Amino acid sequence: MISFDEKNQVFKLDTPNTSYLIGIVDGKYPGHIYYGNKIDDTSVAYLLRPEEILSPDRCAREKVSFLDAFPMEYSCGGAGDFRESSINVRAADGQDGLELLYASYQIFPGKKALEGLPATWGSGEDCDTLEITLQDKATGLMAVLSYTAFRDTDAITRSVRIVNQGQETLYLTRALSLCLDMDNENFEVISLPGAWGRERRIQRKPLGYGSAVFESLYGKSSHEEQPFAAVASANCTQTEGKVYAFHLVYSGNFMTKLSVNRFDSLRVVMGVHPERFYWKLASGESFQTPEAVMVYSGQGLGAMTRTFHRLYRDHLIRSPWKKKERPVLINSWEAAYFDFDTEKILGLAREAATAGIEMLVLDDGWFGHRSSDDSSLGDWFVNEKKLPGGLKYLADEINALGMKFGLWIEPEMISEDSELYRAHPEWVLRTARREPAQSREQYVLDLSNPEAADYIYEQIRSVLSSAHIEYVKWDMNRPLADVGSLKLEPDRQGEIMHRYMLAVYRMQERLLCDFPELLLENCSAGGARFDPGMLYYSPQIWCSDMTDAVERLAIQEGTMLIYPLSTMGAHVSDCPNHVTMRQVPFETRGLVALAGTFGYELDVRKLPEEERAQIPSQIALYKKYHGLIADGEYYRIASYQENHLYDCFEVVSQDQKTALVCFVQVLAEPNKKSRRIRLQGLKEDWVYEAGGQRLTGRTLMNAGLLVERMQGDFQAKLLEVRLACRI
Ligand code: DGJ
Repeated sequence: MISFDEKNQVFKLDTPNTSYLIGIVDGKYPGHIYYGNKIDDTSVAYLLRPEEILSPDRCAREKVSFLDAFPMEYSCGGAGDFRESSINVRAADGQDGLELLYASYQIFPGKKALEGLPATWGSGEDCDTLEITLQDKATGLMAVLSYTAFRDTDAITRSVRIVNQGQETLYLTRALSLCLDMDNENFEVISLPGAWGRERRIQRKPLGYGSAVFESLYGKSSHEEQPFAAVASANCTQTEGKVYAFHLVYSGNFMTKLSVNRFDSLRVVMGVHPERFYWKLASGESFQTPEAVMVYSGQGLGAMTRTFHRLYRDHLIRSPWKKKERPVLINSWEAAYFDFDTEKILGLAREAATAGIEMLVLDDGWFGHRSSDDSSLGDWFVNEKKLPGGLKYLADEINALGMKFGLWIEPEMISEDSELYRAHPEWVLRTARREPAQSREQYVLDLSNPEAADYIYEQIRSVLSSAHIEYVKWDMNRPLADVGSLKLEPDRQGEIMHRYMLAVYRMQERLLCDFPELLLENCSAGGARFDPGMLYYSPQIWCSDMTDAVERLAIQEGTMLIYPLSTMGAHVSDCPNHVTMRQVPFETRGLVALAGTFGYELDVRKLPEEERAQIPSQIALYKKYHGLIADGEYYRIASYQENHLYDCFEVVSQDQKTALVCFVQVLAEPNKKSRRIRLQGLKEDWVYEAGGQRLTGRTLMNAGLLVERMQGDFQAKLLEVRLACRI
């Protein structure tokens, strides 16, 4: 619901439990009035305090101090606001600076798609959109700020379309998606930093004066940071307190910057990273920023999490697979790495099929002459020496076992040792003066060159048409460096990072149009491109190359903070784990993987018999609980990352009749016989069957249950809670 109060010049955007208010001051300046729990009135423009900061109409010479203190909806650089700017341009004379002033608005039901970019979607019944048009007289630049308020979830999305309406060519030197100015309330900042093998660890720290920056310049959203940040009141827990969260629907370089200034005002900006970015805007040309999602919760982090889950499940993921049970897969990577041939893969498939596994995924190493990571990327034809009869023969044989067949690809890359490189060395992303550097012995393809992107896409399309391939794992294993294009004009080189992302999105869009039933899983050296942009194309993303179940607890907890459980690629792998050498019981490995898409990443033929025998019952558990886990409401009960002892979360069905509690005892503490857990999300008055007892939801949520201590470290348990009767 969005309204405009003409008299007070105030826009009010409402979601079920939140309000967001924007006021226009002096008919010129769009200022941020309020964001938080839902309020009733629009006569609150006094919160903008324009008089306190000397409105420029009354005292023109104080325009600078006005611009530097006014809570801007979209900050401009160079004309007096010394805080972080959201947009800037450089004109042909080399000068910069903008003053974007209010021109007009429109409100309409529904939401427009963003050209070439992933974004949330919704019909006129789901959401309303406000567009505020701003103009800079001096340059002729126009910015259309777009806000969508959802009716079924507490999310507001924002993006900006920038148009050069002047005569001169302009260069956008930054074009962020979101700016929010508000009073700092002693906030703490939450982010999701990481590394390969330990992605998305929750970090929380005081904000204080100065700036906190979370960013990626890797050309992908990265292992190192997530395009997410939240500010929370210091007392904010899972169930209580305020939290404002921001997430960018983008997979490339990003910047989130939170700065507290001398007036105790907090400015949050988020968008495409301005470093190594500029975009030429000739007269009449436009630029679309990615979309940023804002979520406010006045009831702690748990409610924020569930809002993100709902938004992404209902308004971002498009795949026909999103609510369907995913086939239980076995992936050849940790089972064989590069060392396989048809017989080995078929042997794996036969054994997997007898255990009830439903799909075999052939990972890296099936193409060109690749037998380690030093060759053949770009040569997307099958290695007949390893796989005589090609993919068709293999897929047919696997299908004959009653299994589906899936394939790994890495279309964005090129090896120096490849036919493609020998034919098109100019298709490597590189600057003219420097030799490009390799990483994982590979170069990045210059996808800003449509010729290269189209060629690769056609190769992939032909591979996927050559056999019955029902799943694709799209990998991307190195960051972008030496970012230059031998094809693009000199004054467009600053566009490459973003053009690269647009090309990846375009390729994935084409893939889904050509193969609408395909189950696509994105991946990037583990979980280095786990972001909302990728979710628009694939309903699941490989979470991490860390498959050790204990290490996975923190990774999955951080991921679940904002992503639905159904999106997390999670597999049971071998022991000792290939990276940590840790031994974790097979049952625990299974229960930890159950939180995600569930599959196997090991050589089933080599499993000890007592472990092999557990696979059918693990699969049965997955089948039993998949619907609940994928579609239920998620509640975090205890965090191993915080307590270093045990981990516990719960999923409650939408009708609140069933709940599943997943408990992992990481360390068997001495002299501790049981642990109390308090459930969440149940109906207070209903009576539930839980742990052999009949208790009301009120009792289970307040008094809680006891989980008995299990024998030894790394033990796990599932607890089912079912409605017994309604009072
Ligand atoms: C990185 C991925 O995360 C792994 O699962 C595997 O597919 C390798 N790449 C293959 O090169």
